Amino acid sequence: MYLTRRNRITRRSAAIRDMVAETVLTPRDFILPIFIVEGKDTTEEISSMPGYYRRSIDKTIVDLKDVWNLGIRSVLLFVKCDDSKKDNTGLESWNPDGLMQRSIKAIKDALPEMVVMTDVALDPYSKYGHDGIVDEASGMILNDETVEALTKMSLSHARAGADFIAPSDMMDGRIGAFRKALEENNFTGTGIMSYSAKYASCFYGPFRNALDSAPGFGDKKTYQMNYANRIEAINETIQDVEQGADIVMVKPAMAYLDVLREVRNAVTVPVSAYQVSGEYAMIKASAERGWIDGEKAMIETLTSIKRAGADLIATYFGKEASQILNS
Ligand code: PBG
Repeated sequence: MYLTRRNRITRRSAAIRDMVAETVLTPRDFILPIFIVEGKDTTEEISSMPGYYRRSIDKTIVDLKDVWNLGIRSVLLFVKCDDSKKDNTGLESWNPDGLMQRSIKAIKDALPEMVVMTDVALDPYSKYGHDGIVDEASGMILNDETVEALTKMSLSHARAGADFIAPSDMMDGRIGAFRKALEENNFTGTGIMSYSAKYASCFYGPFRNALDSAPGFGDKKTYQMNYANRIEAINETIQDVEQGADIVMVKPAMAYLDVLREVRNAVTVPVSAYQVSGEYAMIKASAERGWIDGEKAMIETLTSIKRAGADLIATYFGKEASQILNS
């Protein structure tokens, strides 16, 4: 047989395959989500996320030294709020001595170079488990009142030293409101990583279990996006960039790679993707049963998320993947 093109030549050996690889993962790609609880010397495994932990601030600092040494440069903070502090206003979320604010300070003190990002949404603080303030008569989530509360929350994170606030609430007009408040209060170095295209997804289940933040009634479909839609994601993302987002996000990742690619093509700011708790749990659970090779599934999914267009990936596999990539 005479062939002008033999495509298998560039697949012949590992060295050649590496040489022509279009996508290369590094620990610098990862944003590591961190769950923080009150107390001291506390490490609790999250039952729905095997191998993942909630830690008190002191234990978090110890862990983050490892994280830094693995080459990861950014963390995304989530805190578990005591039930007694939950209400329908979000008051605790802008408490200057709240768990989030203390965590930000402690991390920046111990590891000043670590990029600290903070989740901005009311669900961990809401007695209803919703991302916003609930109109108790109708059960609707109030947009403008929520943006006002989240603006206070964002400023308190900036004041505590957060490098990026990461609004995950999906209210309208929030990015513009936060940017204006940051400017007016002289936080000209604080960034915004917007969860721009965040879908109403069943894949958040294990996370809500980790923070005890599942909605007490209804679902999040009046603010998070319908997973049937793709063009709407472009609209949301472009608006967030116009309102001042520094980094945009598509979430979840694996079931939304088409959206991720289109968002990457539509904007000129860095794009992140969030491989969420359910994606992590699926891989862990099937690996535990011996049905798939968990390490290979981890690297393959992360590589495909980067190939699809993610400049940054928030992933619970950050540490494990970095260990493999460094070896
Ligand atoms: C809070 C928030 C959620 C996640 C990130 N920020 C839960 C939700 O919107 O219900 C999900 C993260 C994950 O599943 O890993 N608004």
